[in-house]
Order: sequence, then structure tokens, then C-alpha cells
Amino acid sequence: MQELVIASNNAGKIREIRSMIDNISLLSLKDIGFSDEIPEPYDTFEQNAHIKAETIHRFSGKSVFADDSGICVPALGGAPGVFSARYAGVGASDEDNLQKLLAETATKDNRSAYYKAVICLIWKGETHYFEGVCHGSLLSEKRGTGGFGYDPIFVPDGYEQTFAELPLDVKNNISHRGKAVRAMVAFLKEQTGR
Ligand code: IMP
Repeated sequence: MQELVIASNNAGKIREIRSMIDNISLLSLKDIGFSDEIPEPYDTFEQNAHIKAETIHRFSGKSVFADDSGICVPALGGAPGVFSARYAGVGASDEDNLQKLLAETATKDNRSAYYKAVICLIWKGETHYFEGVCHGSLLSEKRGTGGFGYDPIFVPDGYEQTFAELPLDVKNNISHRGKAVRAMVAFLKEQTGR
């Protein structure tokens, strides 16, 4: 079976991605013995995904993919965007970040928001990008206990439940990461002839 490293330590993300890929042996950073923090110094999802994938490719020599993702709120000029993981400061928890987003949007009438994910795949030494977007709107209080990050306040378009209330398979079907991962999986199937 082909091996592919997921360049992430985010347990929520890894769980979602593992549930979508079954014909490739997925290795975590722990599996390959990588324990450093990877910097995300850029202001585009593409550049941050690329530096993560490249760092791990250099370390392991294996095929690897990294995703960079976040939630973008038009009423906040697109924030928190690439800064979603550290919106309330470096080392902030998911709860701190979510509370900051609730506070920043408390007086906003435009509740629209979208999640975006960009995957950078380094496969056999070549670099490829895949992207997914999921549009929805923000609640003013949390609902649900599933998912991670901003999921308890994000209701995807066409649904009444938040991403934290919807089952994981439903989230994967419509989410930004689900779309980007499926595009990558389709590419890998072509490559591996499966
Ligand atoms: P990254 O690890 O730099 O890509 O940061 C992603 C951050 O964006 C996460 O820590 C969350 O704050 C947010 N995020 C991305 N995707 C999701 C999702 O599917 N649900 C909830 N939050 C997400």
C-alpha cells in the first residue's frame, strides 16, 4: 500500500481525513517521529500549506500532504482567515478563539461566513494543490458538541444544525476539507490506478 504522511497535529482534522481515505496507508507526524512545531508565517492558505508539506517532506523523504484552513467572515473583512487557529493569540484554545469570534460579530447584521481549506500535496517529489470552500452563517451562541474549532457556531447553507450537531459523515460530505480531500483522493486514485 502507498504511504502518505498527514502533516498535522490537529486531532480533529486527522480524524476527519482518516475517515475519508481508505486505500492509502496514512502516517501521522507521531508515526514518523516529527515533534517540532511547524511555523505558519504567511498570509495565504496556499503558502502556509506549502511550508508545512515541504518541511515534512524534507524531514521524512516521503509523500506528504498538509492542509491549511480557517474560517473567513466577510463582516470582519475576511478575518480570522489564515489566523483562525490563533485568533485570540498564540497558544489560544479553540474555545478562546470561538469566544473572540462571537464577541467580534456580536453587533454584525451580516452573519455570513465560509470555511476554506487548501491542501498542498507533495507526491513523488511534485507539488499539487487542492481547494474546498463551505459557505454558511454564524450563530450568536454555541450549539452542539461534535466537530472542533468554530463548529458550534457555524451552520452550513442548506442545513439548520451546526457542524457540531451534524454527524461527521454529513460534515465530511459538504465541508471545505471534505471537498479538498476528495479532490486529492481522486488525483491519487488516478496516480495509483485504483
Ligand atoms: P490550521 O491548522 O492552521 O489549518 O488552522 C485551522 C484552524 O481553522 C483550526 O484551528 C480552527 O480554528 C479553524 N478550522 C479549520 N477547519 C475547521 C473546521 O472544520 N471546523 C472548525 N474549525 C475549523
